[in-house]
Amino acid sequence: MAETRSGASSRVAFITGASSGIGRATAALLAKQGDRVACVARDRARLESLVSEIEGASGRAIAIPCDVTVEAQVEQAVARCVSELGGLDVLIPAAGIIASGSLEATPMEAFDHMMRMNVRSVVHTAKCAVPHLKKRPGCIVALSSTTGFRAFPGVFSYCVSKAAVEQAVRCLALELAPAGIRVNAIAPGVIVTELHRRGGMDEAAYAAFLERGKATHPLGHVGQVADASEAIAYLASEKAGWITGAVLPVDGGRGITCLR
Ligand SMILES: NC(=O)c1ccc[n+]([C@@H]2O[C@H](COP(=O)([O-])OP(=O)(O)OC[C@H]3O[C@@H](n4cnc5c(N)ncnc54)[C@H](OP(=O)(O)O)[C@@H]3O)[C@@H](O)[C@H]2O)c1
Repeated sequence: MAETRSGASSRVAFITGASSGIGRATAALLAKQGDRVACVARDRARLESLVSEIEGASGRAIAIPCDVTVEAQVEQAVARCVSELGGLDVLIPAAGIIASGSLEATPMEAFDHMMRMNVRSVVHTAKCAVPHLKKRPGCIVALSSTTGFRAFPGVFSYCVSKAAVEQAVRCLALELAPAGIRVNAIAPGVIVTELHRRGGMDEAAYAAFLERGKATHPLGHVGQVADASEAIAYLASEKAGWITGAVLPVDGGRGITCLR
C-alpha cells in the first residue's frame, strides 16, 4: 500500500451512494483520514462537488457516475477504481432506497425494485470487488438498518431487504474469513438524510417523523450522518481487526425498545 505524508498506509475505498447522506459523509471522512476514495452514484454533479471538496482539503478522490442496478456499469466502476486509484481495499455499498407500503400495498414490481436496489446491487458490487479485496486483503462495511432486525409496519419491502443484507454480511464473513477479508454492517436508526423524502415523505411528514424520533430513540434524538460515518470508519479500520460478521446498531437505542 502507498504511504501518506503522515506515514499511515493509504487505502482505496469504493463507496456507493456517495452523492448524498451517509455515503457522502463516509467518503469525506475516509478521505480526511488519508484514504483514496472512489465516489460512486448516479448524480455526476454531486459527485464532482464532493471530489472538489475532498481535493480542496488535499485528499484524493474520483467521481464515478454509475447506476448500481446496472451490472455493466458496476463492473466498469470497479475497474476504473482499480486502474485510477491503484486497487480496492474497502468496499462500502451504501447506495439504498426506502419505500412505504404493507405487503398488500406493495406491487410485486416495486418489491422487485427494492430487492434489486438494496440487496442484489450490494451482492453484485461485492462480487465485483472481492477479487481485488483478496489481494490486500481488504474489508466490506454494508448498510443495514434497525428495520433489518426489528419488524415495523408499513415498510415491508425495505425491512425484508435489510434483513437480507444482514444475512449476506454473515454468510460473506464466513466465506471470506479464510482470505482475511472482514465483512460487517452498521444498522442505523433514523439518520437525517434525503432517504425518507426520496422515498415519498413530504416535508411536513418528514418533520413530524423527526419529531417523533425524539420518543422512538431512547437517547432522545435522531442521528446525524457523522454518527453513521464514524461507525463505518471504525469497522473499516484495523482497530476492528478481529470483528467480522457483526451488525453494529448505531441507533440511539432504537433497536432495543419494545412497546409496553
Ligand atoms: N437515513 C436513515 O435513516 C437510514 C437508516 C438506516 C439505514 N440507512 C441506509 O443507509 C444507506 C444510505 O442512505 P442515506 O440515508 O444516506 O440516503 P440518501 O441520502 O437518500 O442517499 C442514498 C444514496 O444512494 C444513491 N443511489 C440511489 N439509487 C442508486 C442507484 N440506482 N445507483 C447508484 N446509486 C444510487 C443515491 O445517489 P444518486 O441518486 O446520485 O444515484 C444517494 O447517494 C441506505 O442503504 C439506507 O437504507 C439509512
